[in-house]
Amino acid sequence: MCGIVGYLGKKEAAPILFEALKKLEYRGYDSYGFATSDGSKIWLDKSTGKISETKPKELPGKIGIAHTRWATHGGVTAENAHPHTDCNGEIVVVHNGIIENYQELRKELLDKGHEFKSETDTEIIPHLIEEYMKENDFATSVVKTLNRLEGSFAVAIVNVKANKMTVARKGSPLVLGIGKDEYFVASDIPAFLEHTKQVMYLHDGDIVTFDGGIEVFSTLEGKKVERKIDTVAWDAEQAMKGEFEHYMLKEISEQADVIKRAISQDSKEIMDIARQINEAKGIFLVACGTASYACTSASYFFSKVAGKHINVVLGSEFPYYKHFLTPKTLVIAVSQSGETADTLESVRVAKEAGARVISLVNVMGSTLMRESDQHLLLNAGPEIGVASTKVYTAMLVVLYLLAYATIGKFDEGRKKIRRLYLDVYKLTSATMRKNIKALAEKIKSRDHLFLLGRGHQYPTAEEAALKVKEISYIHAESFAGGELKHGPIALIEKGTPAIFFVSPDNEKEIISNASEIKARGGFVVGVGSKNNEVFDFWIKTPEAGDLNPILQIIPMQLLAYELAVLRGCNPDMPRNLAKSVTVK
Ligand code: G6P
Repeated sequence: MCGIVGYLGKKEAAPILFEALKKLEYRGYDSYGFATSDGSKIWLDKSTGKISETKPKELPGKIGIAHTRWATHGGVTAENAHPHTDCNGEIVVVHNGIIENYQELRKELLDKGHEFKSETDTEIIPHLIEEYMKENDFATSVVKTLNRLEGSFAVAIVNVKANKMTVARKGSPLVLGIGKDEYFVASDIPAFLEHTKQVMYLHDGDIVTFDGGIEVFSTLEGKKVERKIDTVAWDAEQAMKGEFEHYMLKEISEQADVIKRAISQDSKEIMDIARQINEAKGIFLVACGTASYACTSASYFFSKVAGKHINVVLGSEFPYYKHFLTPKTLVIAVSQSGETADTLESVRVAKEAGARVISLVNVMGSTLMRESDQHLLLNAGPEIGVASTKVYTAMLVVLYLLAYATIGKFDEGRKKIRRLYLDVYKLTSATMRKNIKALAEKIKSRDHLFLLGRGHQYPTAEEAALKVKEISYIHAESFAGGELKHGPIALIEKGTPAIFFVSPDNEKEIISNASEIKARGGFVVGVGSKNNEVFDFWIKTPEAGDLNPILQIIPMQLLAYELAVLRGCNPDMPRNLAKSVTVK
């Protein structure tokens, strides 16, 4: 959903911004732009296309901002790419978010003689600042402007004449990096991680003006505030591709270590949350996308292992459940980024009803973490690939641990999960990749792929289908095995690939479903610990009983990856998608 970055310090800004922006490309990649200031004028460079496919331009100045776009208002053109300027080219702005009242503000500014160069909502910001600066200083004009905006924003604004940068956020993420004699601002930490690990998380409504150092730190209401400096546990290496061709492949390969880190939770904290789960009257797991499938998987796990009923609701649907919420309800929001607008909205709805909110989140300092009553970090490290892989695994691990803890089996559960380390390591090996590539070759030209599971294997089928469709663009659809006969079987033609996830407690039934597809000419793929004569292709995964979902998703992540590569798609940057969806 667009990435923004800013720099102010003693070095040339452009090369730093260029590298930083590449790390934010996962947030949007239809166009990009840079603006630097050398104190006399603004130097602009904007273009359509991907930042990673271009070379840095020489732009002078030690202060600058940059943007990678995921279009919302206005088509993908160089004019619509950020940064945007005022009429005189003295105020320049990058923005992540949506200004909902931009049409009326644009009309007001047009009536006053301002000239617009783009169709974006963002361009009203520099013009409004310009308008207010007719009677106010820069800082006051920025505050007045931001207070007129409805919707969400994270902005970085440079004033050339004053040689100042102001940044602010409301509803969209923004974090400061504090280096030695230099400051960074970005939508996400990996942008500046190679320069500093010292960060300051901005709260909603914060405005910071830099003038060599931090000059003013206030809120939109004009109240002076202080924010503490935190040190991030992530290191720069983790946010780099290294020898891997794509971030997605790197992140799939890291999952054995991810498991180790995800289980190293403070036992007291886990026991405390488990107690709250046991005491709550009504428990909801709320999430979007991949995180929602981790929640569905956990609901089966809680049901079987802990005998507990948990409701799983999509973030975008949760507000419609508000009538069921009471102060005794426990809402557990699960999110990689902690910035997904629908999940955040659910948390606000829950809090309004007096419910308690706990979050499981990967990004420290995220809005979700801050708005929850309590949180647990997933500890998966930075995830850059748009298709979530390692964080899905971390979510499963932490949710399963919680289930074990609710029945007083935290240590036992942790041991069981730890034992998967070697299996996961093997599943991500080159041998497995070769095997999966052979399968990908067989199905790469098909238009449809079906994935089926029963019980605890059903959410694995759902997550696997999402992975395949979002990066290879093959239509992949998941079904609960039992539903096959209620309609989907009509779709099976000669050679239609269908992947079945098998576990001991649903083996007989799912193999029957596989036979039904085989009888109609389908190409049957089995994922599980035992081969079966019905399979045309078998992907062997070790037998881990109730923990099978942690293992069985890994070959599917690889399959999605190989299909994308074979079909000439970039798995790290699927079309139309963004990793973090900060609009509703
Ligand atoms: C987007 C991403 C998905 C992700 C979902 C939820 O749609 O493309 O990969 O699963 O958001 O994101 P979250 O950060 O809340 O887990």
